[in-house]
Amino acid sequence: MHAGDATIAPTSLLAEGGAPSILVVDDDTSIRRHLAVLLARAGGQVRVAASGEEALALLAAGPADLVFTDVEMPGISGLELLGRIRVGDPPPEVVVMTGHGLLDYAVRALKGQAIDFLSKPFESEQSVMAAFERALRHRTLLLENRRLQRSLAEANALLARQNLSLQDRLEDRTAELLRSMQRLAQLSLATVAALADAIEARDPYTGGHCHRVMFWSDIIGREMGLASEAEKLRYGALLHDVGKIGVPDHVLLKPGRLDGPEWEVMRSHVLIGERIVRAIPGMAETVGIVRHHHEMISGEGYPDRLSAEAIPICARIVGVVDAFDAMTTTRPYRVALPLEEAVRRLEEAKGWQFDPGVVDVFVSREIFRIRPTGPAHISVDEAAGTAAWAA
Ligand SMILES: [Fe+2]
Ligand SMILES: [Fe+2]
Repeated sequence: MHAGDATIAPTSLLAEGGAPSILVVDDDTSIRRHLAVLLARAGGQVRVAASGEEALALLAAGPADLVFTDVEMPGISGLELLGRIRVGDPPPEVVVMTGHGLLDYAVRALKGQAIDFLSKPFESEQSVMAAFERALRHRTLLLENRRLQRSLAEANALLARQNLSLQDRLEDRTAELLRSMQRLAQLSLATVAALADAIEARDPYTGGHCHRVMFWSDIIGREMGLASEAEKLRYGALLHDVGKIGVPDHVLLKPGRLDGPEWEVMRSHVLIGERIVRAIPGMAETVGIVRHHHEMISGEGYPDRLSAEAIPICARIVGVVDAFDAMTTTRPYRVALPLEEAVRRLEEAKGWQFDPGVVDVFVSREIFRIRPTGPAHISVDEAAGTAAWAA
């Protein structure tokens, strides 16, 4: 280490665990040299300056960890220098040295954020070394603290980036899922509409039956405050007889009363229907309607002889309007009943075949008089993915 007036321009290695970079500033050559020797021996990389101006030039060329500076110098004083070098992040630690007005300078120096104070002439080498070690310890802790803060900031930034990319991925996946669900809803609705048409194509005498059942069920559901079941009810009503696809023509289209075995075959449509709707994406919820729309409040219906509230409410609704539509439609073996007669039969059977609450809503609010206009068919509304009546 050069301990004379010639300067070395080391960069601080202390931050990387190396030697501390020290600047000694004093206009007294002997003190400057003495101190430089002591500090170099203690492991510092020492530069020296004979004035405040020279010190600022050296600091501009390379940072220092510690600065030992005299107070009374020609030109920039030590205290002024203190104010000008306490910049940077972190600024160097400053030890102020003076032989004049001890207490007064000490107080002013420490208020000016010097880390320590040395009186000249030095009491002993130990006092110099003690000041050096205190300043060095403070500096090392400060650098360690800065390093931890930087690591923390980097870790936070990394986390923020990861969160951001997770957020992006989540949004992408959500959008993808929504698109799939929309496609599925359209596909399901198209499937349901095709199935409903297929059922009606099998039995032209019932033309429009499934659609009318859906129409009235939908209105009753709303009147009964079943908004959350609305979609299930519409699809289930539309598909309630889908199992008739599996009923042979000689039974389905028989122009007369069915015998016992034929009735058994006809009744199987609820089980066949259940198997079909279970296989359609998004239609599993309609199973309860398809399977149970021929149950009776008294427990005498089929297939499970469920009674009263054990029958899903949507199936009870479909059961009422299904029977009403059958009564008011002309079949090969009988003519349609007048509306009033069909209503009378509903009233007669409410409480044992039909849910009284459903019949009351259907009859008292005269929903049975409302009829879908025009040749009903399902249209696929792309935006909403919902069933809509269209003329
Ligand atoms: Fe049925
Ligand atoms: Fe039906």
